[in-house]
This record gives sequence, structure tokens and C-alpha cells, in this order.
Amino acid sequence: MTRIAVFASGTGSNAARIADYFAHSDCARVRLVVSNRPQAPVLDLARARGIATHVISRGDFYGTEHLLSVLTEQEIGFIALAGFLWLVPPYLVRAYWRRMVNIHPALLPAYGGKGMYGMRVHEAVKAAGERETGITIHFVNEQYDEGDIIFQARCRVLPDDSAADIARKVQGLEHEHYPKVLEHLICPTAHISP
Ligand code: GRF
Repeated sequence: MTRIAVFASGTGSNAARIADYFAHSDCARVRLVVSNRPQAPVLDLARARGIATHVISRGDFYGTEHLLSVLTEQEIGFIALAGFLWLVPPYLVRAYWRRMVNIHPALLPAYGGKGMYGMRVHEAVKAAGERETGITIHFVNEQYDEGDIIFQARCRVLPDDSAADIARKVQGLEHEHYPKVLEHLICPTAHISP
């Protein structure tokens, strides 16, 4: 049974989807939610599901390897970033190489990189007059949004769509695909094509 940690800074709708998807899985379970914000709603979603939580300070995250001992203690085998806003430091990238993925709310390599998160992404997509956008799930390396791409899904952007409309469509894709892509990566016998 692979023990998953989800890292999230905010609302946690993806974290909740992932936790619920694996709640009855034969191969994996979300066992830990890590956040950099003590008040992040994602922590309440985790507690409500009986999932352990860990809040990490900037000093500990970048200045020590304390988080690695927490992950080791909890026997975490896979990490899913879901709206986690801090760049992952090298010690963690190395320890979870090819076992840590991120979801980005656009079609990378477009609209990615430092500062490109949340509504900023959808506003930029709209401002550029794009006719489609989507999601990208990728392995995590030492740069923002630059690891190898595993999966993308697309949706149309209509001329009248607001940034909020785009956000809703993209979130729908995230909720539909992220848990299945994780299953595909983590569970060797999963035959579900995302
Ligand atoms: C998602 O759009 C994800 O792509 C991005 O951060 C957002 C997190 O949303 N990396 P939520 O907190 O899961 O609702």
C-alpha cells in the first residue's frame, strides 16, 4: 500500500478529491497533508477525513531537512502537489525523484513559472485571446513547472468566457483527471486510462 502525501497551500479541492478517490483503493491512500499555511482550509479537509497534517515553516523547509524525516517516519512513498506555492528544494526533489508530481492549471510550457498560479494564469490566458487551455500534470524538478510532462487535458476558451469561467472549466478537468493519473502512476495494475 503506497502512502501518499499531498502538499497544498490553499483551498484543497484537489487534495480532497485525491483523498476521497483513494479512500477505498487497494494500492494507495492519502496519509498526510503538508501545508505552508497554518490556516489553510486544506488542513481542515484533511482533519475531517482523519488524515494527518503537517505545517511547515519557510525556515524549516529551506534551511533544514526536517520535512524529510517527517515523510520518512510516515513512510510516504509518493507526493502530489496540489496548489503548493513554494518551490521544492533540491533535497526533496532528489529524495522523491519521479515520485513527486504537480498539477498546473494551464497547458505548459505556456503560462507557467514563478508567479503564475491561481487566477493570474486564467487572466493571462484570456488576455492573450487563447482559444483553448487545460491542465498539465508533470514530475517535479528543481524549477517551477519545468519537470517532464506526464499528462495534459484541454478545454475550449470561448470569446465571452471570463477568467472565472476559464477557472471553472480547468478545475473540472483537474478534479476529473488528477486522481486517475496518480493511480496510473502509483498502482502498477491500474488499467484506467485517464
Ligand atoms: C489548482 O488550480 C492547481 O492546478 C494549482 O493550484 C490550484 C489548487 O486548487 N496548482 P485547490 O486548492 O485544489 O482547489
